[in-house]
Amino acid sequence: MAESPLKTILSLGRAFWDAQILLTAVNLKLFDCLNKYVNAKEVAKACKIKERPARMLLDALASLKILNKKADKYLLSSDYAPFLVASSEKNVISILNHYYFMYEDWGRLKEAVRSNKPVERKNRSSEEFREFIRGMDNLTKFFRDRVVNAIDVNGVKKFLDIGSGPATYMREILKKNNDIHGYILDLPEATEVAKEFLKQEGLLKRVKFIKGDLESTDFGKGYDVILISQVLHSLSPKAVTIAFEKAYSALNKGGRLYVHEFYMNEDRTFPPENVIFCLNMLLHSDGGDNFTASELKNLYKKTGFKNIKVTRFKKPYTVMFVGEKV
Ligand SMILES: C[S@@+](CC[C@H](N)C(=O)[O-])C[C@H]1O[C@@H](n2cnc3c(N)ncnc32)[C@H](O)[C@@H]1O
Repeated sequence: MAESPLKTILSLGRAFWDAQILLTAVNLKLFDCLNKYVNAKEVAKACKIKERPARMLLDALASLKILNKKADKYLLSSDYAPFLVASSEKNVISILNHYYFMYEDWGRLKEAVRSNKPVERKNRSSEEFREFIRGMDNLTKFFRDRVVNAIDVNGVKKFLDIGSGPATYMREILKKNNDIHGYILDLPEATEVAKEFLKQEGLLKRVKFIKGDLESTDFGKGYDVILISQVLHSLSPKAVTIAFEKAYSALNKGGRLYVHEFYMNEDRTFPPENVIFCLNMLLHSDGGDNFTASELKNLYKKTGFKNIKVTRFKKPYTVMFVGEKV
């Protein structure tokens, strides 16, 4: 039987307790010392905290089944270890740190709802922004192939990725296609993270960087493909229009603009994680929002693109549009 409405409401009301237990443990790097059974005193020493709060946090994590507990010792569960240990390729630590940093902002949701403005926070650090960008790779590495495979690169020479972040898709595209010259347009700090990732894979020399805000920065010319993935939802409606228009004029005839975004149904109620994400844009962007498929299609049409096609992906629910400049 489904949970009772009362239980659902009460669980939802204190869901932030559980979130903080996980995020605090991640931010303290607590999981890194739990690859063997250890007690609270040992964890406290490794994380430079007192034994009492260490024991409370460890017991809370054990109650959530993230840790196993035997007598007074704890071990990270093997189900969660791949995602929570820094040395694992599958770890999602950066995105969890990103959630940790934005927790304070979510505590100010009422303020944003009242003011219809993003919340300003003075203590945002450059490391916080970099964890956000690295965090994108944490998420997309699990489903990058479906996005890359949806892009037709036949005969493509010049490929521009706008808002490339950690360059997850650009790296795959370059690895699979030796003839492609990559171009990345992104905010300066994000390009530094892209460089870290490209360098690790020996791909740095194959990419030219255009640093700046897409509204005010010249895109260049002569592209066969432009990709804008998970960027438009963070822009104001005016900036979205500018992005489409500039992309259109930067493409060659026959060139294609791919837009990859969160999927949201026409009445804006499904899937919940994407609908809820809109409030994240209320908190963190100046006018950002998710789009329905018909809104995206209209943007393509209004700009002059033809042969518009859409591919829908499930779990996570995203959508890929393509339109051609004829
Ligand atoms: C959510 S990340 C998406 C990263 C990657 N494209 C992906 O799909 O995983 C958004 C990216 O857009 C960039 N971005 C946001 N606003 C921008 C703007 N006004 N001009 C240029 N880049 C922007 C950010 O720096 C970041 O790299």
